[in-house]
Amino acid sequence: MRHEGGLGAGREREPSVKVEVHVRPGDAQRALRAEVLAGLCVNGRLKELSPKWLYDERGSQLFDEITRLSEYYPTRREREILEAHARDIARASGADTLLELGSGSSEKTRLLLDAMRSTGRLRRFVPFDVSEAFLRQAAGAVAREYPGLLVHAVVGDFERHLGQLPRGGRRLVAFLGGTIGNLKPAERARFYAELSAGLRQGDGLLLGTDLLKCRQRLFAAYNDGAGVTAEFNRNVLKVLNRELGADFEPEAFEHLAPFDEENGWVEMRLISTRPQAVRLPALERHVNFAEGEVLRTEVSCKFRPEQVEAELAEAGLRLTERWTDAAGDFALSLALKR
Ligand code: AVJ
Repeated sequence: MRHEGGLGAGREREPSVKVEVHVRPGDAQRALRAEVLAGLCVNGRLKELSPKWLYDERGSQLFDEITRLSEYYPTRREREILEAHARDIARASGADTLLELGSGSSEKTRLLLDAMRSTGRLRRFVPFDVSEAFLRQAAGAVAREYPGLLVHAVVGDFERHLGQLPRGGRRLVAFLGGTIGNLKPAERARFYAELSAGLRQGDGLLLGTDLLKCRQRLFAAYNDGAGVTAEFNRNVLKVLNRELGADFEPEAFEHLAPFDEENGWVEMRLISTRPQAVRLPALERHVNFAEGEVLRTEVSCKFRPEQVEAELAEAGLRLTERWTDAAGDFALSLALKR
């Protein structure tokens, strides 16, 4: 782990941001190679990649565009809830430290920080993200906007470094956007257990979850008319081309994101439009696709509120309060560690 004092030491006006780094330079490359070997170079089994590879610079830009699409409601709904209830959340959590998993640059962060400041307790902000460059920029911006706030940024992967969240104070961990939905049930249980193990009694989790709703609306949200989600999905193939020297032709794959009733998730698929072999020089392998064969690039689970409550309870996190938007599309759950 790299540990540093002030960012931009020596520059008089730059507020102090502590940055703690848990990921090493080659980590992402190694993880991608391992995943491609295990998830893509398989015969007869469903091909699958985890959604984290969707978010290179272009992918993050496209996701940002998705959040503004008329069909894509989650971001707007969650913001609506925060606008109405950030103060209730701050009060109910009693926290002096906001720890945000993923992001840290958004408007939503400010809504929470403002509400916590108004309780008079706010002391520290801990943005946690896998991208160091992004995190430094976001942390610096927050530090400038909130004079006196201690900003302690942590570069890490929430599937590996949850045990190393900074201690001290009364903490509220915010995991927003519905990103929890990217984890399948067993992965989710592990995530909650690891998070809970690192919390002390009274610390809290503020969790954003998309709720089950009619399949037409779910379908529209993930298969938008302008094709932005399709572009976002296909972009992962360009990531593989760049990182592994692969020769995917993104146009030879179709985007489809159906709702899987049985699993309660929307899944993003890339469907091969013809039989094809793709080279993966970095792995000295190739991968074959039959016509119509599916590569799954994401699952996005949709929840019943009581299901969220039960899963949290299982990990020793007791639901204190739950807020939804007026339409009942999205929920924010606050749970405190027993
Ligand atoms: C960022 C994981 C919450 O699942 O809705 C948006 C990602 N995928 N459109 C979601 C996404 C396709 C998004 N999350």
